[in-house]
Amino acid sequence: MEQDQQQYKTRVLISNEVIRKRIDELGQQIAKDYPSGTIHMVGILKGACIFLSDLVRAVPAPVKFDFMAVSSYGRGKTSSGEVKLAKDLDMSLEGMDVLIVEDIVDTGVTLTYLAHVLQQRRPRSIQIAALLDKPSRRMRPVQVKYVGFTIPDEFVVGYGLDYAEDYRNLPDICILDPVNPA
Ligand code: PRP
Repeated sequence: MEQDQQQYKTRVLISNEVIRKRIDELGQQIAKDYPSGTIHMVGILKGACIFLSDLVRAVPAPVKFDFMAVSSYGRGKTSSGEVKLAKDLDMSLEGMDVLIVEDIVDTGVTLTYLAHVLQQRRPRSIQIAALLDKPSRRMRPVQVKYVGFTIPDEFVVGYGLDYAEDYRNLPDICILDPVNPA
């Protein structure tokens, strides 16, 4: 793994300070949009765990949260188009206000699948929050109510996002550049 990391260098795209400010804004907006009752946030493992951790603390309203995991076949830096549920929720969503929390919307394949699965659980409402949106790569239309940042078509890591499971712990969102041999 260490050898792999030496083949790339990271360049900050969005600093942790900017991320935190934007999450504070999103938290205030979300609290206003749900004036009564508890917001049930569903974080999608693994990438969204860092965003969800900061977001729940930025929402001045009652929040419960749980996690789901999906797996995609044949994924390197791109989606295969095929998704399956790898870890389900522990709680029922029936009659609840559900907010799906994702780190990034890329092709939209994962969120299309998840929104369909969760809709069948009869929530009162269902919306999506994504820290990053890469609209240039969209294959399926997805309605994302809360977007942190719209980004260009660059491969990004950090703040939960990985490349081959590395870099998730970087505090900033960074572009991953190959180190070119001279
Ligand atoms: C990433 C990300 C989203 C999905 C978005 O997950 O966290 O779930 O890809 O891509 P899409 O819009 O093209 O479907 P990944 O499968 O890399 O898993 P991870 O969260 O565990 O890193």
